[in-house]
Amino acid sequence: MSARLFQPQYLQAPRNFVLPQFSQAICLEIGAGMGRHAILFAEQNPNKILVAVERTSAKFKVFAARQQDHQLENLYPVHADAIPWVVHALLPQTVEQLFLLYPNPEPKNPAQRWLNMPFFEFLLSRLQDNARITLASNIPAYLDEAASQLEQVWKLPFVRQAIAPDSARTHFEVKYLARGEPCEELIITKPAGYQTRFDSYISPVARC
Ligand SMILES: C[S@@+](CC[C@H](N)C(=O)[O-])C[C@H]1O[C@@H](n2cnc3c(N)ncnc32)[C@H](O)[C@@H]1O
Repeated sequence: MSARLFQPQYLQAPRNFVLPQFSQAICLEIGAGMGRHAILFAEQNPNKILVAVERTSAKFKVFAARQQDHQLENLYPVHADAIPWVVHALLPQTVEQLFLLYPNPEPKNPAQRWLNMPFFEFLLSRLQDNARITLASNIPAYLDEAASQLEQVWKLPFVRQAIAPDSARTHFEVKYLARGEPCEELIITKPAGYQTRFDSYISPVARC
């Protein structure tokens, strides 16, 4: 586990936060950008609920407009920083699939990469047993580091695979593959019985 402990009790809920009510486990996309993957996934998986969180206003605006054209009842776009949103909105063991697709590489701030953050332990606590995480990147060194974190810190099984040159799940994927960049992904599993220090944490906001 990460040496630094995430402290959810000090995080305020995002502005205009609305506590969501889901009747089933959800899929979660963090950093959904303009929503290409979110819309495609929701269309292709009508029985799943996808919550797609995007922090940047300009991107979220495009996403929200595109979503209105598609009228997908199983897609729940959220304009927020995913960290406080996840803390306050989600109960433990409620996410069946997590997508981190082409996250910002944070070249000047490695501590802000998802698998280097203490928050990642909290995120793991929200996943169901056998849930899957897809982490995609066009930067081999980003995935090398993430793989090393999975082995040494998080002790989670994963496979690393190349992304097909004709894949087009996200706007960034389309752009990187068109440039001939080596896009790859880690498919990570949370094994049954995996424990975190947040397994019984429920935000006071979510208790209401
Ligand atoms: C490089 S873009 C990739 C967007 C999209 N996944 C794609 O592949 O086209 C990374 C996105 O993650 C978003 N992001 C970064 N940190 C975030 C956070 N804490 N909460 C929500 N979104 C975040 C950024 O605003 C940005 O839109």
